[in-house]
Amino acid sequence: MIGDLDEALATTRSIRRRLAFGEPVDRALIRACLEQAVQAPNGGNRQGWRFVVVDDQTVIGQFADYYRKASEAYFAADTGMDPQVREAAQLLARRMHEVPALVVGCLAGRLAPGASAREMSGFYGSIYPALWSFMLAASARRLGTSLTTAHLAYEREVADVLGIPYETTTQVAAVTVGHILGGGVGRGPRRPADEVLAWNRWRESAG
Ligand SMILES: Cc1cc2nc3c(=O)[nH]c(=O)nc-3n(C[C@H](O)[C@H](O)[C@H](O)COP(=O)(O)O)c2cc1C
Repeated sequence: MIGDLDEALATTRSIRRRLAFGEPVDRALIRACLEQAVQAPNGGNRQGWRFVVVDDQTVIGQFADYYRKASEAYFAADTGMDPQVREAAQLLARRMHEVPALVVGCLAGRLAPGASAREMSGFYGSIYPALWSFMLAASARRLGTSLTTAHLAYEREVADVLGIPYETTTQVAAVTVGHILGGGVGRGPRRPADEVLAWNRWRESAG
């Protein structure tokens, strides 16, 4: 049990190169993952989350146009990105219109300019655990996901495409969903925990 969970935690990766673009995903599978996602912790258990699942290729195509435009601007501006991450992210941007499904995670409300640290953390933190649970549940079902935020540069335009009431609802991320091509998924390239943890008192990272 612990082993299975640990394995899932380490191997739920962004599936971009190995996504089965163009191969539909059964809605029942996506719904099953969302049933687990809504068990996630969230501020005051207010459950202000909404999940817009998009599997209509015409609508995905409209989303993809904004996603690609936003990504191109982002890649042009960010020169420090790991080349492998950049290449995978660019591939996803190029092929976004072929992604089988998207889950757009939204929250009721909109942060006021100058929101406090507690407000910002409480707001965005009230959906990220659910999105990660969704990704874990998907990976347990051999579905590959990737959490993306690039389209938020065009949040208002995408709100129009999806009928999301922009003034009262914040989009937080779009998770791409599809079957995974090939065999197992490896652990993520990460700094060891010992380099980034401190006991009892802050210390500068060892790496
Ligand atoms: C807040 C956040 C935003 C992200 N936005 C994007 C994105 O817009 N496009 C993309 O391709 N990947 C995006 N990612 C995925 C990261 O690039 C990825 O998690 C990271 O490179 C580590 O790779 P791994 O998930 O395969 O271990 C995002 C991840 C997070 C947590």
